[in-house]
Amino acid sequence: MASVLPVSAPNGARRYQLFINGKFLDSQSGKTFESVSPHDRSVVAIVAEGDKADIDAAVSAARAAYEGPWGSMPAGERAKILLRMADLIDARAMELGQLDTIDMGAPVMLSNGMAMLAAETFRYWAGMATKIHGLTMPALRPGEYLGYTLREPVGVVGGITPWNGPLIMAAWKTAPALACGNAVVLKPAEHTPMTALELARIAAEAGLPEGILNVVPGYGPTAGAALATHPGVDKIAFTGEYVTGRLIVQMSTSNLKTVTLELGGKSPHIIFDDVDLETAVANALFGLYMNTGQICSAGTRILVQDTLYDRFVARFVERSQEIKVGDPLDFATRMGPLVSEEQLRKVQRYVEIGKHEGARLACGGGQPKDPALANGFYHQPTVFTEVDNRMQIAQEEIFGPVASVIRFRDEDEAVRIGNDVIYGLAAGVQTKDLKRAHRLAKRLQAGTVWINTWHMIEPNSPFGGYKLSGYGRENGVAMVEHLTRLKQVWVDLNDFTMDLFAS
Ligand code: NAI
Ligand code: MG
Repeated sequence: MASVLPVSAPNGARRYQLFINGKFLDSQSGKTFESVSPHDRSVVAIVAEGDKADIDAAVSAARAAYEGPWGSMPAGERAKILLRMADLIDARAMELGQLDTIDMGAPVMLSNGMAMLAAETFRYWAGMATKIHGLTMPALRPGEYLGYTLREPVGVVGGITPWNGPLIMAAWKTAPALACGNAVVLKPAEHTPMTALELARIAAEAGLPEGILNVVPGYGPTAGAALATHPGVDKIAFTGEYVTGRLIVQMSTSNLKTVTLELGGKSPHIIFDDVDLETAVANALFGLYMNTGQICSAGTRILVQDTLYDRFVARFVERSQEIKVGDPLDFATRMGPLVSEEQLRKVQRYVEIGKHEGARLACGGGQPKDPALANGFYHQPTVFTEVDNRMQIAQEEIFGPVASVIRFRDEDEAVRIGNDVIYGLAAGVQTKDLKRAHRLAKRLQAGTVWINTWHMIEPNSPFGGYKLSGYGRENGVAMVEHLTRLKQVWVDLNDFTMDLFAS
């Protein structure tokens, strides 16, 4: 049951098939697509391209498996399988991290960490599997009736993931759904299919019953749309662009499946003048440049109090220019390439827009000079200063290493600018004033607020958006609500069914 066939492409590209009903298969059309290294454009994988017919097969397999022994398996057995998956991911964390790195360009240091976080996600949900239950509630006449709820799985869950964190996104879409007793059809992003298919292999090795996890790589408008419209799918969990999210909601109306959406952002990182400058700069660099800025919750709008602004900018620009950009397989690299040529062009387009709008380009703005990187999708750390929040570069998600540094005078203005955007995924405040920190945590319209830190996301903390950053939450107990439904049961305790119609 090997997913990696004998290496046959001239450059050593891997070959991957679809995973349906516990088996690795070619797509029904026989089509394949290539996944390309963002470092040097070489083909790293040749992957079976799923579309509607394969999604149909996967959904049928998931439904049959869900209605089979999976439904009656004790929760503790499900937990054991998830724990085995966690251990297998841990054991292969280096390799899985490297696969994501060659697929999408995140530095190995980061993708290894993400692989370990994926293992922790499975471990967390393994624990949850045995803690999902309904409630009993006293009836108005408690001795006569008993009322209680059953919390049941929704059934077949479709997961559609983006490319910016391939394995961790696959873990977020599968571990909670399985813990809650559902079957899953996962459609990974077309740029980054490898580790989702490795996860399928791990699931099989861990003893997950056939058909409970199916992985169908393919393109959005074909495979993704087939999943979102499918009448046999009960719920879609989606992460990606908000424009795609809106399409998913429209497609979901065919059978009124439920949808949760995690849709990116333009998060304000608000820095007051009472901070330690070096710490504040370090936090802002971390918030912005991790994963080359390709994180939905990146701190891309850096709001700095005018009394600190010039000193902050000088140091932030200096440190941005020192970032080690390079081959993401090198452990010393801190910033790799962007995922694709399309993403590079998008970033370049926004740099032109920023210049045109009158922002000051303080550093970066182009591709690195190093000839070793010339063939990859690399972009320099880039800082725009004197940015007005109404500019396009401050309002739109660039998804690259581009900062918009904005001035503010006082707390009220910081909140007004911070909230003046269509998104609401995350926000952050740096200050030593404890009261101010908590006031802002309340006033900022975002699903996560970070105080003097950034990018803290753990399996037990609910993650999701306000406004156009989407709805529903991933991670944490809150997610159980989205992956189960409630059934109310009423029992007559005294043979007292009201005979209202007796004559
Ligand atoms: P996307 O939203 O188009 O893709 C995300 C996933 O949705 C992929 O698996 C894709 O195949 C699927 N998809 C695309 N069109 C679909 C459709 N019509 N029906 C069903 N599934 C569909 O994002 P894309 O095109 O990869 O990137 C575009 C921009 O989106 C990025 O530049 C970035 O600004 C933003 N983005 C935000 C992410 C986040 O974490 N919130 C992640 C990835 C991208
Ligand atoms: Mg798209």
